[in-house]
Amino acid sequence: MKIKIAIFGGSGYGGSELLRILLLHPNAEIRFVTANEHAGKAVSEVHRNLLGLTDLRFSKAPEDFESLADLDCVFLALPHGQAMDIAPRVPANVKVIDLSGDFRLRDASAFARHYGREHTAMNAQSQFIYGLTETNREVIRPARWVANPGCFATATLLGLAPLVANNSLSCRVIVDAKTGSSGSGAKPAANTHHPQRSNSFYAYKPFAHQHVPEIEQELKSIGDWTNELVFMTHSLPVARGIFASIYTETKHEIGVDDARAMFADFYRDSFFVRLVDGSPDINWVKTTNFCDIGFAARGRQLVVFTALDNLVKGAAGQAVQNMNLMFDLDEKTGLMLTGNNP
Ligand SMILES: NC(=O)c1ccc[n+]([C@@H]2O[C@H](COP(=O)([O-])OP(=O)(O)OC[C@H]3O[C@@H](n4cnc5c(N)ncnc54)[C@H](OP(=O)(O)O)[C@@H]3O)[C@@H](O)[C@H]2O)c1
Repeated sequence: MKIKIAIFGGSGYGGSELLRILLLHPNAEIRFVTANEHAGKAVSEVHRNLLGLTDLRFSKAPEDFESLADLDCVFLALPHGQAMDIAPRVPANVKVIDLSGDFRLRDASAFARHYGREHTAMNAQSQFIYGLTETNREVIRPARWVANPGCFATATLLGLAPLVANNSLSCRVIVDAKTGSSGSGAKPAANTHHPQRSNSFYAYKPFAHQHVPEIEQELKSIGDWTNELVFMTHSLPVARGIFASIYTETKHEIGVDDARAMFADFYRDSFFVRLVDGSPDINWVKTTNFCDIGFAARGRQLVVFTALDNLVKGAAGQAVQNMNLMFDLDEKTGLMLTGNNP
């Protein structure tokens, strides 16, 4: 079976990773890939890692959406605000996986507060399934529309889900999360420019990051989440990777071995979650779809460390993992990507 695919926004970093994965996916056939400024260029001219692997060229998005009815699946890897215009116009037989924040939030006022614009397609939003594969697998399988999670949200939710599901947390949770510069997309900006970003380290969007509402929304659907969340994001001087240190206090003393056993049970069917000794390291998950998780404990204090690649498990990899489920494939198909050592 070949899944006929279109990628909207293929010239960005998320699109680049969708192409890297889907070009080698045994069940994927990419019919077209759109760009904005890069429309007309060869894919391998923009993504030079793909030279020799594809003859595809970037096109403008089609005007006539009825022509999309020949497809099976559309990936939207566009800036926030665009998917809510496009997704409702995609023919009903075509599945949609959106990598942006447009359809993650069920609360329109939270969306307006965090994304600085009114939502124009809340009717469609109510039909989107939140695509954190490890917690929502069974509802993703039959879904037509999937809202792929944010990269920080994936790192945070995977680190908290077993504790929330087991009702183990007693009070405030502090998430201290860091990202590499590719999290800001392919267009250079003053704060992502190499001389600024290399050797620097700083916090940004304190208390205001747009992933906070989706994290809280999903924790409430995983368990009885009533805790306070303190969520702080930082910029790392690396290109790829998210590392989150999640500080919790548990109701009863939980040692590292107990935490590990709880997580191993929760993620027993989840190939892409790996439990490691000590701290995970963004080096070992870079370019892969893995999220590595480690623990430290003292009394009732439990720290969960998570590491993933923001562009793979945090974006394109998880999107393909969801596509696999939606098309009745093994969720690992096309995603057996190893990292590099060193
Ligand atoms: N980067 C990450 O780590 C990450 C992780 C999770 C989710 N996401 C989300 O995924 C989406 C894509 O992110 P990204 O990092 O890939 O962004 P990006 O590198 O900036 O790429 C954006 C893509 O959208 C196209 N585009 C921009 N403006 C457009 C317009 N007005 N009309 C049509 N197409 C337009 C760009 O085309 P041109 O280049 O040709 O102009 C490019 O293909 C975002 O919503 C982002 O929040 C990103």
